[in-house]
Amino acid sequence: MGFLTVEGVSHRFPGVHGGPPTEALSRTDLSVEDNDFIAILGPSGCGKSTLLRIVAGLETPTTGRVLLDGQPVTGPGPDRGMVFQSYTLFPWLTVEQNIRARGAARIRAALSEDAVWRHAATHRARARIG
Ligand SMILES: Nc1ncnc2c1ncn2[C@@H]1O[C@H](COP(=O)(O)OP(=O)(O)OP(=O)(O)O)[C@@H](O)[C@H]1O
Ligand SMILES: [Mg+2]
Repeated sequence: MGFLTVEGVSHRFPGVHGGPPTEALSRTDLSVEDNDFIAILGPSGCGKSTLLRIVAGLETPTTGRVLLDGQPVTGPGPDRGMVFQSYTLFPWLTVEQNIRARGAARIRAALSEDAVWRHAATHRARARIG
């Protein structure tokens, strides 16, 4: 068992508006030792970000579990950091305001990366329209 252990983790997103569900990640096993530096490679859409979000505790896997130092991951924690693939700051706020944004971590957990991006794009469009 590694420092980080991914055991039989898979993830399925439910379909929206009656559409079919998305099998985002097939059953995956992974063992990472302390101080390992690893890269996860694969074509777009194969589930890399989904796996990272599960390890970060931002997504609950459909099957399997993640252990960090022997303890199950049940949510985000200060023991893990994640650099998101897309924008997760609020571009209309200053750096200080971003830091001060209360509950920003919870907002980040609740909104998908894409939702944050859409929100920012909407705000920029509104700002242009005036
Ligand atoms: N919140 C979501 N709801 C529904 N489907 C999703 C969601 N997030 C990702 N997916 C789908 O799950 C699959 C895996 O997406 P994921 O973002 O994990 O892929 P990826 O390997 O990181 O791709 P890329 O290399 O483009 O970043 C894709 O089909 C994607 O459209
Ligand atoms: Mg990705």
